[in-house]
Amino acid sequence: MAEILPLEDAFGPALDLLEAGEVVAIPTETVYGLAADATNGEAVARIFEVKRRPHFNPLIVHVSGAEMASRIALFDRASMMLAGGYWPGPLTLVLPKRPACRICPLATAGLATAAVRLPRHPVARALLEAAGRPIAAPSANPSGRLSPVCAEHVEALLGGRVDWILDGGPTEEGLESAVVDLSGGRPALLRHGTLSFERLRQALPDLHMPAATATAQPRSPGMLRQHYAPRKPLRLGVSAPQPGEALLAFGPPPLPDGFAWAYNLSESGDPAEAARNLFTMLHALDAREEITAIAAMPLPESGLGYAVNDRLRRAACLEKKD
Ligand code: TXA
Ligand code: MG
Repeated sequence: MAEILPLEDAFGPALDLLEAGEVVAIPTETVYGLAADATNGEAVARIFEVKRRPHFNPLIVHVSGAEMASRIALFDRASMMLAGGYWPGPLTLVLPKRPACRICPLATAGLATAAVRLPRHPVARALLEAAGRPIAAPSANPSGRLSPVCAEHVEALLGGRVDWILDGGPTEEGLESAVVDLSGGRPALLRHGTLSFERLRQALPDLHMPAATATAQPRSPGMLRQHYAPRKPLRLGVSAPQPGEALLAFGPPPLPDGFAWAYNLSESGDPAEAARNLFTMLHALDAREEITAIAAMPLPESGLGYAVNDRLRRAACLEKKD
């Protein structure tokens, strides 16, 4: 069992643990992260072990500010502009890594690039500032499963494998950060987040979405088609139920009849509210024994609707897992 620790008591000890090379689950504004010192190879290896994450999948390195970021990666005009506009916040930049930087090679999976993010969450920021070193933090879930958006999700997903969970309440954004690759060639949005493609494109007009790929070596392993999955089968684009199915609805009532259970991502049809509710509702549906399968209604394919549909498509690809 992991201990869920209130911030007042646990900030100092959590910092000590990070400095000692242990892993600690921490809140960020997007999802909870499994944090460890990014310059310590053993600490980073422990993250991969706890998550059972394949070693070819690199981690995001969190920084306390622009100066720390510039010691890790090379910024050009475009990346400086995006960082200037959206940091701190839910945006990760993939940039050329400085060859002599202190990040351990395992954290970046031996790549010549590094994914860097300056989080907005006050607890994550305070930890980064106090530690004075970069912190690697993937989402605090077993590889391939739903990301956690509250401390209780981390406990349910990783409780046996992590000792400390710093409780910062539910996260504000509800989805993982947008990942933009500016490491060379045409800028690419590798992962959709609450910062939408349309908004990013206003700042970076040549940004594009690479076609989804399920090849062995996608440009970003987070682009794997099977990801972010509940245990139960998930059917998309649904308007009528099958026996035992629960409905993940979107939009105003009346909803289609006959589903065993219904959760509504947003009754007012607001994609931002749907993004905040998505993982919480999928976790809740996954936990209900009487539900055998989940059926989701579609969201409009624009703005945040695209990011939510993207997570649903990846979640639907997975077979039922133990
Ligand atoms: O919101 C978030 O980004 C959360 C919080 C905790 O910060 N973190 C997170 O990390 O979602 P993770 O490891 O679950 O997802 C990182 C994504 C993965 O899809 C990974 O493949 C990709 O970023 N990535 C990391 N380094 C990369 C690189 N050098 N090139 C391409 N993709 C990279
Ligand atoms: Mg993840």
